[in-house]
Amino acid sequence: PTHVKSICCIGAGYVGGPTCSVIALKCPHIKVTIVDINPVRIAAWNSDVLPVYEPGLDEVVRECRGRNLFFSTDVDAAIKEADLIFVSVNTPTKTSGVGKGFAADLHYVEASTRRIASVATSSKIIVEKSTVPCRTAASMRTILESNSTFAADGTQISFQILSNPEFLAEGTAIRDLFAPDRVLIGSLDTQQGKAAANALSEVYENWVDRSKVYQTGLWSSELSKLAANALLAQRISSINSLAAICEATGANVDEVAHACGLDGRIGNKFLKASVGFGGSCFQKDILNLVYLSESLGLKEVSDYWHQVIKMNEYSKERFARKVVSTLFNTITFKKIAVLGFAFKKDTGDTREAAAITLCKYFRQERAFIAIYDPKVTTNQIMLDLTEPGVVDDAEAVRKQVRIATSMQDACDDAEAVIICTEWDEFKNASKQEWEAIYKAMKKPSFLFDGRGIVDTKMLREVGFKVHAVGKGPVIVDPVWA
Ligand code: NAD
Ligand code: UDX
Repeated sequence: PTHVKSICCIGAGYVGGPTCSVIALKCPHIKVTIVDINPVRIAAWNSDVLPVYEPGLDEVVRECRGRNLFFSTDVDAAIKEADLIFVSVNTPTKTSGVGKGFAADLHYVEASTRRIASVATSSKIIVEKSTVPCRTAASMRTILESNSTFAADGTQISFQILSNPEFLAEGTAIRDLFAPDRVLIGSLDTQQGKAAANALSEVYENWVDRSKVYQTGLWSSELSKLAANALLAQRISSINSLAAICEATGANVDEVAHACGLDGRIGNKFLKASVGFGGSCFQKDILNLVYLSESLGLKEVSDYWHQVIKMNEYSKERFARKVVSTLFNTITFKKIAVLGFAFKKDTGDTREAAAITLCKYFRQERAFIAIYDPKVTTNQIMLDLTEPGVVDDAEAVRKQVRIATSMQDACDDAEAVIICTEWDEFKNASKQEWEAIYKAMKKPSFLFDGRGIVDTKMLREVGFKVHAVGKGPVIVDPVWA
């Protein structure tokens, strides 16, 4: 098809849902059906409480749902009707078998591909939206070609495969989709491949300037997604490694980041030191890259990228240790308030959130933990903190962990406050609010800022003993004193 009239998106998750809702909004002439095998998720997409929290998403869905946007569990019907299909299913890290802990689990992608092959009755463009290892499109193509049948008019059905990775970040998904830095479309260098890429480009050109659409070969497109995430995460691990030096020397990581970022070649974005990065993508995609490099016999390359993950683990551990050592080397039976559980602000997503690692560490030290997050549900927090397979662990979590209803509630009677997520509510809390919190806490009252968002000077005036990532104590050298 040269002009797309009907789109199906397989996978109604954090990517498929927002991405295809925005396509429906911007392309009223295209019918968009988002399908999923999870009926609970589809029911939520059809309700007033969407399964994904993203600023601006409710408005988009409200405007198009029932007009040219549909959410359904009838995967086959949507496949049949569509002339372009996004495969936007999850590709988690494998937890068993070959490549365990590193390789991407591609069985959801393969299941979707086989489903398309078995039910399609007309030619289609298949678009990889999921993040996949380099050359996955080749496997999809083999499956589709070996299973393709004939259309009603006797002609052989053909499938064109494109790679169109998604670069949206959670919390800003709608903004990113409305005004992407670029839209990447990879295709085979054949006439049909190029025609398919142009057809997809035409969809985006309903709201994205053509100059932002970059067409490449399939393998470059697939690899670019892993590469972009690896480069972004590498910046965070780099600044976090420097944060450790700052803390040991009295340098200030925000000043260092700013000074370096003023160099146009470096740039000032994505250099915020933190307790460690989280999210469903960075770790998974780098592990995927590590595995890919190793499979290609490129051990040094693999080691190089693996270090980004190791530095992230170290950042979380270093922060947790700092909490314990500062609290006189024991937090057993002490009450710790954790502010923020999502992996970043403006999302309810907790996948790989640093808060999970920290809370598990505090649990091991037998502390009592009170957690407050403006968006994450109690169920989700309990699920994240329960070790699978450990007998009675859910019960133990309930005894040790309390879900608080506000910052103040979490901090009541606590020995220390730990900021894990950079929610505006924490960042913009007034001096009066902090004074009330301070008053309700045990003394000395400690505050550990894992995001570098609070005004340390103001908090010290209130009375807190403050530790912020990358901001070391001012060391007075006797020579200069
Ligand atoms: P998700 O887990 O939120 O959603 C995936 C959905 O696919 C689930 O609802 C699941 O039920 C459904 N699904 C799985 N197999 C299916 C099948 N055979 N038929 C129909 N539905 C099926 O995952 P996500 O966060 O949306 O990520 C999807 C992909 O996009 C991943 O490859 C991810 O790496 C990539 N990605 C994610 C982000 C992000 O910010 N979350 C950003 C860019 C790219
Ligand atoms: C990331 C990529 O940014 C996006 O392009 C890709 O499509 C999916 O993966 P996401 O994980 O949603 O997006 O959020 P992102 O803003 O990248 O933040 C990831 C983690 O890094 C968060 O925990 C965040 O708090 C942390 N981070 C980010 C820092 O610690 N410092 C920074 O300077 C930036």
